[in-house]
Amino acid sequence: MQKQIKKVGVLGCGLMGSGIAQVAAQSGHPTVVLEVSRPALDAGLKRIEAFLAGGVAKGKVKPEDARDTQARLSGTLEYADLAECDLVIEAVVENLAAKREAFGRLEARLNPAAILASNTSSLCITEMAGATSRPGKFVGLHFFNPVPLMKLVEVVRTVRTEPGVEETVLAFARSLGKTPVRAVDRTGFIVNRLLVPYILDAIRALEEGVGTIADIDQGMKLGCGYPMGPFTLLDLVGIDTTYFIANIMFEEFREPRFAPPPLMKRMVLAGYHGRKSGRGFYDYSAEPPTPNDSLTRG
Ligand code: 3HC
Repeated sequence: MQKQIKKVGVLGCGLMGSGIAQVAAQSGHPTVVLEVSRPALDAGLKRIEAFLAGGVAKGKVKPEDARDTQARLSGTLEYADLAECDLVIEAVVENLAAKREAFGRLEARLNPAAILASNTSSLCITEMAGATSRPGKFVGLHFFNPVPLMKLVEVVRTVRTEPGVEETVLAFARSLGKTPVRAVDRTGFIVNRLLVPYILDAIRALEEGVGTIADIDQGMKLGCGYPMGPFTLLDLVGIDTTYFIANIMFEEFREPRFAPPPLMKRMVLAGYHGRKSGRGFYDYSAEPPTPNDSLTRG
């Protein structure tokens, strides 16, 4: 039976967690977001404040809606503050051990009827569900970056998902103003299954000298009508994050199209992680960012 989701909890207030907490609070849900340290929590809450302020400045968010969103949102370092949530969405680091630990600490307090969801983009939902005491009430709920602007959410069921749980989460996603699509638990779900081989191919094309960073980006933007080219997108999502996802997909499917190319590994090792590290396929030290054309020479 479908259940109504009122109070929402979010584990992790990083790039994805803060976006998820923001859209939940913005769409009327009392929302509690948990972080493991005060500085991480403050940074996440600041990101939300800045996004809302940006929305107000652009005329996209009414000042009173920004205020109400902040009033519905609270940050915490204590799992006990999530006890009353109807749904808790996990968005912590992409590491099964870290997620397992977070679920253990959460479930010691959480209402047994509550649904747990993971925003993982690459880990196995069935395995995560099995690490909790409520595998029937566990789904994937995969948001896209930047969360407040991207309309899609993937809702991922497993063989153990109980009747009604998927419908409840689909309705919740719609309540956020998102459009949900349903997928089964196969690494990458729908979007990354198709997106990851494409962006890895863009790196291979660059390695082979087919075109420059700027020309490949421009080609896909203007030739296919994509909002941004593959290298701008890689820098936005994070080269380290995409490398991690590609490796997990390669392990799952053992197909060369998911294998990260050598340049990508070198960039991760060099700390060229994209926009967040100030350098990736582009250099972000000045506006506008400039393509890092020396990459293929190293
Ligand atoms: N609050 C509210 N609205 C805002 C806002 C804010 N702070 N900032 C911007 N907006 C609005 C703008 O006003 C604009 O609205 P309009 O379309 O009605 O005019 C809209 O959002 C777009 O903003 P901008 O005009 O500033 O920027 P762009 O047009 O360049 O769009 C983008 C930005 C939405 C990020 C677009 O470039 C895009 O869609 N890029 C692709 C991103 C993508 O593919 N993400 C998925 C990554 S994969 C992933 O996340 C999965 C993971 O597992 C790896």
